[in-house]
Amino acid sequence: MDELDRIVTAALAEFAAAADPAALENSKAGYLGKAGALTVLLKSLGKLPAADRPAAGAAINEAKVKLESALAARRDALADAKLERQLASEALDVSLPGRGRGIGGLHPITQTLERIETLFRSLGFEVADGPEIEDDFHNFTALNTPEDHPARSMHDTFYVEGGHVLRTHTSPIQVRYMETHAPPIKIIAPGRVYRVDSDATHSPMFHQVEGLWIGEDVSFADLKGVFTEFLRNFFERDDLEVRFRPSFFPFTEPSAEIDMSFGDGWLEIAGSGQVHPNVLKAVGIDPEKYQGFAFGMGPDRLTMLRYGVNDLRLFYENDLRFLRQFA
Ligand code: FA5
Ligand code: MG
Repeated sequence: MDELDRIVTAALAEFAAAADPAALENSKAGYLGKAGALTVLLKSLGKLPAADRPAAGAAINEAKVKLESALAARRDALADAKLERQLASEALDVSLPGRGRGIGGLHPITQTLERIETLFRSLGFEVADGPEIEDDFHNFTALNTPEDHPARSMHDTFYVEGGHVLRTHTSPIQVRYMETHAPPIKIIAPGRVYRVDSDATHSPMFHQVEGLWIGEDVSFADLKGVFTEFLRNFFERDDLEVRFRPSFFPFTEPSAEIDMSFGDGWLEIAGSGQVHPNVLKAVGIDPEKYQGFAFGMGPDRLTMLRYGVNDLRLFYENDLRFLRQFA
């Protein structure tokens, strides 16, 4: 039966070479199908002499079983290979590090505020707070600025319904604190304040940190000493150029603006002075017995100076490319 051997060898080779299930089923049809080579051979048994038929029949059946099992094995192999490929293409590399949540950071002005608080606490100041929507009395009147006083026009005020204002400075916090605490008083009061203002060094919402030290003999010299010490610590420099420039506030006498060098000129960073006796009287503190200084500084501008930023508005645009540099 050379013919049978030839068919089996050819079939096994073709099954093994089938690259996918469709090619395999095609090959199967060529040998085991209705007109397949093996089927044809089986049908031709009748032409053999009767004595040879049983042996030939047995050999053909044996060959058929062999092909069918080769076929089944190849089907399994192709299915396995397909699964392997799929697993490989969908593989997760569990050893890759995760993407993480993205680490946040404190806003540069928040960092400045925290730094200011730490430095003043180390000089013995407590931290006080107050409302951002203020009444006229605390924002102006108690600060020796009655209605129709021209100094009111120093601030471009946002008015809200009911005669209230968005506080234009943190000074109302010193009034509220003095209303409820007796001297000695030694506080700072950080917070947001609002004015109709906008350019490279003015933002409509900005921050101030109020300072207030009232005792029996707290002088203007103490103001200069405390503020200069604070600035040296804040900027970590002993050779800072700071100037106290005579000025006017209704609630201090004498008054000074505090400037630092900025580019070719100066940048005003705070208003300050000895608390006016009328302010002390308005909150029930005896100006014959007590005196002291107050200041209101702009931490937004201190942040500009510390990092060499030339436009204040950058801090409020929330562009991550800018903010990430401070994280
Ligand atoms: C005041 O607001 C006074 N209340 C300060 C004061 C307090 C004086 C206590 C005396 C005693 P002035 O308007 O100058 O003062 O503002 C204080 C500081 O806030 C300025 O020096 C500046 O650093 C900052 N500042 C003012 N306006 C803006 C603004 N639009 N944007 C950013 N910073 C500002
Ligand atoms: Mg000023």
